[in-house]
Amino acid sequence: MSSTLHERPIRLSERLSQLTASATVALNGRMAQMRAEGIDVVSFGQGEPDFPTPTAIKVAAFDAIERNRTRYTPAGGITELRQAIARRIAQDCGITYTPAQIAVTSGVKEGLFLAFLAVCDPGDEVIVPAPYWVSYIEQARMAGAEPVVIDTDETTNFKITPEQLAAHLTPRTRVLILSSPANPTGSVYTESELQGLADVIRRHVQEHDLLVMSDEIYDRICYVDYARWLRVAPDLADYTLLCNGLSKTFAMTGWRIGYIAGPEPILKALRAIQSHSTTHPNSIAQYAALVAYSDSPELAQTVNEMVNAFQVRRDLVLQKLAEIPGVSCVVPNGAFYVYPNVSGLLNRRFASGVTCTSSLELANYLLDHAHIGVVPGEAFGKADYLRLAYAQSNANLEAGMRRFAAAVTE
Ligand SMILES: Cc1ncc(COP(=O)(O)O)c(C=O)c1O
Repeated sequence: MSSTLHERPIRLSERLSQLTASATVALNGRMAQMRAEGIDVVSFGQGEPDFPTPTAIKVAAFDAIERNRTRYTPAGGITELRQAIARRIAQDCGITYTPAQIAVTSGVKEGLFLAFLAVCDPGDEVIVPAPYWVSYIEQARMAGAEPVVIDTDETTNFKITPEQLAAHLTPRTRVLILSSPANPTGSVYTESELQGLADVIRRHVQEHDLLVMSDEIYDRICYVDYARWLRVAPDLADYTLLCNGLSKTFAMTGWRIGYIAGPEPILKALRAIQSHSTTHPNSIAQYAALVAYSDSPELAQTVNEMVNAFQVRRDLVLQKLAEIPGVSCVVPNGAFYVYPNVSGLLNRRFASGVTCTSSLELANYLLDHAHIGVVPGEAFGKADYLRLAYAQSNANLEAGMRRFAAAVTE
């Protein structure tokens, strides 16, 4: 198809002028192409569990089809599911939400996007700690808001401090992104760290409109005691949008079920936007999600086994990284990513004759030369690092790490 119409370039919306396509999606595209050419690529790119969705959930989906649960549902999701989610939140956080305060969305990604659209106006600021999950930045921009990045480093395990937060809050700050465990670093905030942030936020909300978007999608993939934002700061529930979903915990990335819970007026607005865009998440997945949010001990056991396997893999990857001169890595306490510092590999001549001057170049070199897919730190707002997802078999991890080590020997 021609890229011009009547000799004029096709016009895209102004809104898109700053949009950057997802680096992980781009990497997956390149790896798929290499595989199609017969090249054996080990991918550390996937941000999703390699486990299958638990059988009980799959059976519930078949059952939903059998029972013709294949029609439109209300925007915001079926009431039974919102009730089940409310029960889960009450167990986890000790706070009671009504179904009117909840919206089931097509993954947390849709929930966050609808939330930005519902609460942000042009000129509003959205605080995003870096390294960040890229969609926060792009979604905030698409909603007309301005991302304000707080840079973090290894000295705080990539977590923002109360002092940093206080220094970045302005009367225009509309949203603070709080993500624990985080992607790409796997960092988990402790109770006292959350308490410190809550104190700053309590002072700020006395005068200004501020919402905390607490993205807890990796809450169950955590190798230390998990400190919950709303357990630490229940008094800030009216200023919080709680975001969670099934993708990671239940290996259900393709099912697209997430939720947002928060103040009713915001949720009402959010559902109204959803009703004019996606209408609601897939009906079959919603009925299957009822099983995921039931209190089945078997399912809890399946999730535990998966998390234990992730922990073993994390340790394996950390051990292999520690053996590579020029690489260091803080220990991530959650999610399934490691975020090693590779500055010691830059501007050195490898045995292959190649020298890389940035983590972006290094990631490209590792893909072209060693056939391993990693995401450069540049994609997450912090260069000199790589993100490796370890949600794959030990054999793959070992093979990939061997290739990594061999490619960067001097
Ligand atoms: C931090 C974080 N939040 C949200 C999401 C979106 O998850 P989903 O839309 O599959 O629920 C992801 C997925 O990678 C993520 O890493």
